[in-house]
Amino acid sequence: MNINYCEELRAFKIDTENNSYIIAIVDDEGFPGHVYYGPKIADIPMYMLRINENPYVPSKNNRDRGSFMDTFPTEYPGNGLGDYREGAVEVVDSEGHFAVCPVYKSYKIVEGKPALKGLPATFESSRGKAMTLELTLEDKPVGLEFILRYSVFEDSDAIIRSTEVINASDKSVFIKKAMSFAMDLDGEDYELLTLHGSWARERQMDIRPIGYGKTSVGSVKGESSHQEHPFMALVQKGADQKQGRVYGFNFVYSGNFLAQVEKTQFDSVRVLMGINPNGFKWELKAGESLQMPEVVSVYSNDGIGKMSRTFHDVYRNHLIRSPYKDKKRPILINNWEATYFQFDTDKLIAIAKEAKKAGIEMLVMDDGWFGHRDDDNSSLGDWYVNENKLKGGLKYLVDEVNKIGLKFGIWFEPEMISPDSDLYRAHPDWAIAIQGRTPVRSRNQYVLDLSRQEVVDYVFDVVSKVLHSANIEYVKWDMNRQITDLGSYALGKENQGELYHRYVLAVYQLQERLIKVFPNLLLENCSGGGARFDPGMLYYGPQIWCSDDTDAIERLGIQEGTSLVYPLSSMGAHVSDCPNHTVGRNTPFATRGNVALAGTFGYELDITKIPQEDRDSIPKQVEMYHKYNPLVRTGDYYRIASYRENHFYDCYGVVSKDKSEALFTFVQVMGRPNYHSRIIRLDGLDPEKRYAIEGEEGSYAGDTLMKAGLQIQNLWGDYQSKLIHLTEC
Ligand code: GLA
Repeated sequence: MNINYCEELRAFKIDTENNSYIIAIVDDEGFPGHVYYGPKIADIPMYMLRINENPYVPSKNNRDRGSFMDTFPTEYPGNGLGDYREGAVEVVDSEGHFAVCPVYKSYKIVEGKPALKGLPATFESSRGKAMTLELTLEDKPVGLEFILRYSVFEDSDAIIRSTEVINASDKSVFIKKAMSFAMDLDGEDYELLTLHGSWARERQMDIRPIGYGKTSVGSVKGESSHQEHPFMALVQKGADQKQGRVYGFNFVYSGNFLAQVEKTQFDSVRVLMGINPNGFKWELKAGESLQMPEVVSVYSNDGIGKMSRTFHDVYRNHLIRSPYKDKKRPILINNWEATYFQFDTDKLIAIAKEAKKAGIEMLVMDDGWFGHRDDDNSSLGDWYVNENKLKGGLKYLVDEVNKIGLKFGIWFEPEMISPDSDLYRAHPDWAIAIQGRTPVRSRNQYVLDLSRQEVVDYVFDVVSKVLHSANIEYVKWDMNRQITDLGSYALGKENQGELYHRYVLAVYQLQERLIKVFPNLLLENCSGGGARFDPGMLYYGPQIWCSDDTDAIERLGIQEGTSLVYPLSSMGAHVSDCPNHTVGRNTPFATRGNVALAGTFGYELDITKIPQEDRDSIPKQVEMYHKYNPLVRTGDYYRIASYRENHFYDCYGVVSKDKSEALFTFVQVMGRPNYHSRIIRLDGLDPEKRYAIEGEEGSYAGDTLMKAGLQIQNLWGDYQSKLIHLTEC
């Protein structure tokens, strides 16, 4: 890792172990030019900027200034001054104008990585030191400064970028857009890889050609969303898991986002990523600054697989803070799919007793324990125990569960307010709503106006009171509706456009306070399944519920898309009952277990009612979890085959960092009649090492297993699966 300034060329060169990123300041006016991003190079190839060909830089030929602005590969494009591609920043200044053109002012290269106030961010850790370039740009007529930060870690190829906007003038400026990341790449035949989805179908991989004009994904739902994901990758046509040029970008933020590519008349591609300008308008008063969230960018010269592994490592080493990040998580049993809202103390204790016998380690009480909530129509906000259900109260239940030998966890949906709640009756103005309009209900609930500090404090106080009242070691923090009716009773009319972002900042503030007061709490985020599975949330809790769809086969696609960016240690995955509650599919209990082993692992079923045969298999699965989880949590992930592509089977594996152990999971989704065995070429092994396969005779060289492959017999039936455990011998 290194960051250097070359005085002669006025260029900054950022190097990671394998990659380089180069910026140069051009012309007397100081335009920040994007020179290069890709595999590590020795030189500074200034010709990439093409400033020696028509249209020349404005100081040489101001006649073509407009053409220059519209073609120059820039680091942080402005707006309204000749660059007709989409800008990274849009403002309304004190005169009502929107033109802005950030040019070079100064730079600093610092050791370490400054924290981003109020925002989740990657950080220097014992696993790798950091270095940061702070490039300050300015627009004198508007009076704005932009600090572009570029950080690198010694143990990673990721480059982290963010933008801070400072109002250096003496008047308010309205920021309508300030992207965290912008870059103009020289054209190539890239395709765009994104993650698309829906409730119960989150993060499915989608790949499409990049055509001329703009292509984007984004969210205006107030959260990162089920539908689009704050991730995109530019993938060289023909690239696959093992080869090809890949640029991946992931936004460390949990609210509205925009990720856009724009292919131009000269085949260059402008990449933008940041808070979605739709619904955003921030008043930046004189002297104030606004820190935009960061983007983790990963370049891989060796295909998509290497990109994924780089993201996994940077998140495990530099983003997730929880004390649980390096620990096996307790195997939990959650009562949601077991009972939904119909439970009481006796039922939970019965589940806990049976769970204990099977080796399960924690009981999580889901939705329905508070207010008078017997369905999803009431009580959000009234975070006091429903004693009709929990006779003897919460502490009694927790103590009983602890006596059985299980830890206890609890569900909250703290950001919400039901119209039928004491909280709403007392504070109707605490709901997000536009005065004069009846707000839209979704799941019969409203969203709390977290732009108000008194609301944030209320939420924090009620949640902490519950957590202090008993020995609660885990929280599932849910968020079950998206935001509409953007209106706050507390914000002025010029400031309503701040609500979306203030809301997200408040969620971060709440979770930060929570983990400070309860440092050993295991926090699992959730949003109607996986609508807020993003790196922002991983800064607060080490795991996120992937999806409400617990069907093992549906999970293959969801977990494939999720693991494209996020480490397996962060993916909430449970074994549930059949027919599956979302798709009605019947899959073998063993396959449900094998698929859930690729995540945090747990159960979500009524263990007192499932078939005895299934119950009897739990101790074996528990044993496998204990045996394989250290490898799954810490190893390198390799995608071998995708059911999404071949329609028959799925295969992925995890290889330990020292390559002495590996676990591959093979799922035969569709049985095939009259078919011979399959040959699966493994990946990630040491070609020189020999590996024994658990349960089989003999051994093979890594070389053989990767080149010739491993033979897997055709299994009988659909949805069959097999774990292949290799150890060096
Ligand atoms: C969301 C979660 C589920 C469950 C329900 C409870 O849908 O994703 O796991 O907690 O809410 O209402």
